[in-house]
Amino acid sequence: MDFKSNIIVEKLPKHIAIIMDGNGRWAKSQGLMRVRGHEKGTKAVRETVEACAELGLENLTLYAFSTENWKRPKLEVQTLMRLLVSSLKEEIKTLQDNKIKLQAIGCIENLPSKARKELREVIDKTSDNSHMTLTLALSYGSREELTQAVRQISEKVKNNIIDSETIDESTINKHLYTQNLPDVDMMIRTSGEKRISNFLLWQMAYAELYFTDILWPDFRKENLFEAIYEYQKRERRFGKTSEQL
Ligand code: IPE
Ligand code: IPE
Ligand code: MG
Repeated sequence: MDFKSNIIVEKLPKHIAIIMDGNGRWAKSQGLMRVRGHEKGTKAVRETVEACAELGLENLTLYAFSTENWKRPKLEVQTLMRLLVSSLKEEIKTLQDNKIKLQAIGCIENLPSKARKELREVIDKTSDNSHMTLTLALSYGSREELTQAVRQISEKVKNNIIDSETIDESTINKHLYTQNLPDVDMMIRTSGEKRISNFLLWQMAYAELYFTDILWPDFRKENLFEAIYEYQKRERRFGKTSEQL
């Protein structure tokens, strides 16, 4: 089936978030080192970004490195950081050609200085692009994000900038890294794992979850189109009854 031509453009999700998982298992299945899987995964990133741009999707967020991923072997972490730098250098043209703005969420200050510098450059160069926002979650953890939000809000309450009585959901939204993004409409996770792994817990409160067994390095445009096609068949009720919609 040609999923792409069956997607209803007017009903595209406003924000897709993807947990790009399965690089290590892909490498193992090929008899390769884990890092080879991460290298292969960069092609899937390009395909996905291009597919979203082709459809006219407004917001794509990719989980590239979690706060917990720092616990991995040093060589693997170094390779992931090196790949981040080289991918940023290589993909700047794709971003510019498709008018994609890049931004990053997470504890960016924890990244090596080379990665921070490259990231800063690409963010600056693409800041005027307006067709799509590509958000990279780097050294990102939802609990860390919520914790820093609570810290900031408490500080403001203490300094009489915020009256605690007025704190509502929008106050929390404004103190998250994702403050400029809409809620996640669909979350895709590859590799067959069915968990959230500390990704956008607050923002995904009403997201449609889509799990596929495909390992991230094998993920292609057609797989993304299929996921969106599936999303459009679902009924999102947000607590209401079917008849009320
Ligand atoms: C996802 O693939 C990439 C990152 C977490 C950085 P994994 O490296 O988690 O691959 P598996 O889960 O071990 O197969
Ligand atoms: C989640 O994948 C993080 C990223 C894809 C960057 P993991 O492979 O680290 O998640 P767990 O540990 O299996 O839950
Ligand atoms: Mg994994």
